[in-house]
Amino acid sequence: MNYFEYREGEMYAEDAKISDIAESVGTPFYLYSSASLAYQYNQFKDAFGDLDLLLCYAVKANTNQAVIKTLADLGAGADVVSEGEMRRALTAGVPPTKIVYSGVAKTVREMTFALKQGIYQFNVESEPELYQLSEVAENLGKTADITFRVNPDVDAKTHAKISTGKSENKFGVPWKATRELCALAAKLPGINLVGLDLHIGSQITELEPFEAAFTRITSLVETLREDGNDISRVDLGGGLGIPYEGDDFPPLPKEYAEMVRRVMSHLNCQIIIEPGRFLVGNAGILVSQVVYVKKGEEREFLIIDAAMNDLVRPSMYDAYHGIVPLKESDADSVLYDVVGPVCETGDTFATNRLITPMKSGEYLAIRSVGAYGAVMSSTYNTRPLIPEVLVKNDEFAVVRPRPSYDDIIGLDQLAPWLSE
Ligand code: LLP
Repeated sequence: MNYFEYREGEMYAEDAKISDIAESVGTPFYLYSSASLAYQYNQFKDAFGDLDLLLCYAVKANTNQAVIKTLADLGAGADVVSEGEMRRALTAGVPPTKIVYSGVAKTVREMTFALKQGIYQFNVESEPELYQLSEVAENLGKTADITFRVNPDVDAKTHAKISTGKSENKFGVPWKATRELCALAAKLPGINLVGLDLHIGSQITELEPFEAAFTRITSLVETLREDGNDISRVDLGGGLGIPYEGDDFPPLPKEYAEMVRRVMSHLNCQIIIEPGRFLVGNAGILVSQVVYVKKGEEREFLIIDAAMNDLVRPSMYDAYHGIVPLKESDADSVLYDVVGPVCETGDTFATNRLITPMKSGEYLAIRSVGAYGAVMSSTYNTRPLIPEVLVKNDEFAVVRPRPSYDDIIGLDQLAPWLSE
C-alpha cells in the first residue's frame, strides 16, 4: 500500500500536499506517513493470527519518538541494542515488559539499567556476556530472563554488510555450542533461560534462508527440552525485506507467518519477532530541492540540497532508492546523476537514472527511506541534521526540528589552554 501518491499531478502524503509541507518546513526533510506505519504493523500482526506473538519493533531502524509512539500505541514492543534505544522506547511509552535487549556487547552499565527497568529478555550473544550478566543480576538481587542468540550458519543472501547469520560473522553463539551453553546457563545464579533467538540479516528477499534458520532453531529447542530445559520463547529476529523499486517483490508477512507456523507451531512457544525495516522503510521519504542542474562533459547532474550525511545508504551499501519529482510530468524522462553537495564522489544518490526533466528550485522525493535513513545521518560538512515530519490524514507535525548552527557549534568546547 502506497501512501505517497500523485493527485492531479502533485505528490501527496496521505491527504497532505507535500510541496506545501516543503514550503513550510524548508528542505531537505524526512517525511513519514502514520497510515503507512499502521498498515505495515497490522500486516504482521494479522499474519500471525492466533499464534502467541510479541512484535518488538527494532527501533534502530527509526528512533524518532513519534514513530515509536505510533507503533507502541498499536501494541508494538521494542527490540533495543543500547541504553539509549531502551530509554527512547520507554520514553515513547513502550512498557519494559515488551522490550527485548539485543546486541553483541552489552556493558555492565547497560545490563544494570535494563534489569532495574524490568526488561522482558536479554538475547545473550556469548559466554563471557553470560557470565557478566549473571554477576550483574546477582549483585542487583534480580534474575535475568535470557535467550541465546544462535548463529545458525545460514546465508541470508543479502548485502554482505548486513548479513549476520554465517559462522564467520561476529553475531551469536555457534549453533553447535548452544546445548553446552544452555547447560552452563542453568547452573549460573541470576540467569533464567527462557528460549532461543536468532537474526540472520536484513533486507532478506526470500523465505528459504529464514526457513533453514528456523528449522535449525526448532530442532535445537526440541533437544534442549529433552535435556530438561523449560523453553517457552523463540525470538526470530527481523530481516524481512521491502520492495525498493527495481527489486523483486519480497515475501509478504502472510507467507512468512505461514512458514513459521508450519515449522514451529508444534513447539507452542511464544514467538517474538523484531522487524525494523518492514514497519518503517516504505513509510518514509526524503524531500529535497534541486539546487542546480549541471551539464558535465559526460553526464547531467541534478545537484540537490540533501547529501550523503542525510541519507548514507546509497554511498554505504550502493542501495537503490526511487527518486521522483513532486510534480508529475508528461515530458520524456532524461538521464541524470542525482548528487548532493558534499565534497566526495560517493555523495551520489543515483547514477544514470531516468527522471522527467527538472529545474533548479523544484522538489523531489527519495523513496523508501523510513528505515536506516535519519538514524544513520550525521553532521558531516557541518550540515545540520534535517527535520523529521509526520503526516496523519491532512495534518503534519515537525517531530524533530532542524537544529540551529549555534546548537551544532555549541556542542564543542575549547580546551582550557585555548580559551585563555
Ligand atoms: N534484530 C536485530 C538483532 C538486528 O540486528 C536488526 C537489524 C533487526 C532486528 C531489524 O532488522 P530489519 O527488520 O530492519 O531488517 N543499516 C542497514 C541495516 C542494518 C540492520 C541491522 N540490524 C541498512 O541500511 O540496510
